[in-house]
Amino acid sequence: MYRTNTCGELRINNLSQRVILAGWVQKARKFGGMIFVDLRDRYGVTQLVFNQETDADLCEQAARLGREWVIQVEGRVEERSNKNPNLATGDIEIVVARLHVLNPSETPPFTIEDESDGGDDLRMKYRYLDLRRTPVRANLELRHRMAFATRSYLNDNKFLEVETPVLIGSTPEGARDFVVPSRMNPGEFYALPQSPQTLKQLLMVSGFDRYFQIVKCFRDEDLRADRQPEFTQIDCEMSFIEQEDILNVFEGLTRHLFQTVLGVELSDFPRMTYADAMRLYGSDKPDTRFGMTLVELKDLTEGKGFGVFDGAEYVGAIRAEGCAGYTRKQLDELTDFVKRPQIGAKGLIYVRCEADGSLKSSVDKFYAPEDLQLWAERAEARADDLLLILCGEREKAQKQLNELRLEMGARLGLRDKKKYNCLWVIDFPLLEYDAELQRYFAKHHPFTGPKPEDVSLLDTDPGAVRANAYDLVINGVEIGGGSIRIHDSALQKKMFSVLGFSEEQAQAQFGFLMNAFKYGAPPHGGIAFGLDRLVSIAAGLDSIRDCIAFPKNNSGRDVMLDAPACLSAEQLKELCLKVELQGNKV
Ligand code: AMO
Repeated sequence: MYRTNTCGELRINNLSQRVILAGWVQKARKFGGMIFVDLRDRYGVTQLVFNQETDADLCEQAARLGREWVIQVEGRVEERSNKNPNLATGDIEIVVARLHVLNPSETPPFTIEDESDGGDDLRMKYRYLDLRRTPVRANLELRHRMAFATRSYLNDNKFLEVETPVLIGSTPEGARDFVVPSRMNPGEFYALPQSPQTLKQLLMVSGFDRYFQIVKCFRDEDLRADRQPEFTQIDCEMSFIEQEDILNVFEGLTRHLFQTVLGVELSDFPRMTYADAMRLYGSDKPDTRFGMTLVELKDLTEGKGFGVFDGAEYVGAIRAEGCAGYTRKQLDELTDFVKRPQIGAKGLIYVRCEADGSLKSSVDKFYAPEDLQLWAERAEARADDLLLILCGEREKAQKQLNELRLEMGARLGLRDKKKYNCLWVIDFPLLEYDAELQRYFAKHHPFTGPKPEDVSLLDTDPGAVRANAYDLVINGVEIGGGSIRIHDSALQKKMFSVLGFSEEQAQAQFGFLMNAFKYGAPPHGGIAFGLDRLVSIAAGLDSIRDCIAFPKNNSGRDVMLDAPACLSAEQLKELCLKVELQGNKV
């Protein structure tokens, strides 16, 4: 028997028991004639004691133990004289009678403790060692519990888990596809699914009624803290439902997960239209943990000779409470922040609401105190508040104000990680116009249904058509998105034509779906949650990487496996691939 107990299990009521433990040496220290070893496994840490006086040979063996050696010990559970209240097993220790080294270890490249001395790159290269650290393991345990609770909730609600293939054709979700060459079909490629979107719709045509899958999706897009090239969706689809049904079932799932996994009761899930989200927050995924909403000032700023505002489509402000005392340096920092290329504002205007009621702005040259007073009134500013103002093209300036709002929220400590604000954003536009390519793109994907009352606008004003689409947002993060689908082949055909597909192109790429719709497609709709994002919000993480066992870095590389990598000439030949030589790299 390798062990009678785990390293997280023994307590004071196990006193005097003879036990066998196995695990990794976290730390060994000498103290007079004693050696203390912290033995670690997945379940916790238990202190071992070796006593020079009672067994000198054993103590000598213990003195040779190094960090991360795998050992097995047999001994007696005793009460500690020096208890450790921070450790679940901190009341006891094992007085060791027998030590067996199962496997020695080289000295690890970084310390395997809660606070490691290893940098990001090093820890990723040795991810299997990083995963031994309690906080990293705790994130994966949380992920497991979330996935498990998801399955249980969806099973209770009659959803069937069905696996869909990974080697498929393209599924348009707005990113590039990862492709796989086919050896048996030279010159042809599979695409890895960006999501199982079309397949889950086909399952509805097949009568499955309620489908789910916890499934890997692949998107070749620029990476950020909340994006990985391969990530996991809780993907769902339902038949004979309306938007309201989906929102209710998935609000239920979210509540169930937070309650069973975190013990958190979520308050209500307000609904906000896309138009309101943009107007009030400058974002389609507003962080509603704090106010500081956007206030439009354009009409109050016009005709006073300030060309920057006069020439702008939109002038908007946020009110930073109690920030009138910001120093020149702090204001310069904020100006630099909004001027960063990722944000792209040209400059930042401010108005300080002084304690004596006077108003001081960076545009005093153009605006009289009465003008500034009107701005302050509209923003409901009080003494000590600071107005921060940006202008420009409407949507661009609103998005920039959103970035500034989030930055101010962080500076003022308003983005509490232990507070969870959930929100449904609804009524998204169906289409987005790309001025450069002069054509419309589907904002969500081409299978999303328009609101029935807006269908006629498809011919006259496609940009104004709203979709039956919704996103679940928690703390400013898009956790999930979905829609009611088009289930009528004629409307689907029309949608492809609005998106600029010729009939042949639509048939070649999506013929299978349009044909399926000819054979009795039920009204249906669905949603997909990003599991990685959900876990990272629940764990209060800054990056989804921290809840993925083996993540990719920002260049899409797995530095541990050293992937992606070149293929040998034979492999390339077998796949009928020709690769241009660049430098000495194939
Ligand atoms: P969508 O593209 O909105 O919808 O994706 C659903 C959810 O998946 C997560 N997500 C990601 N997570 C990590 N890294 C990424 N690169 C990434 N991309 C997306 C987000 C997002 O909300 N087929 C539709 C769903 C549907 O209509 O039913 C879809 O995939 O949390």
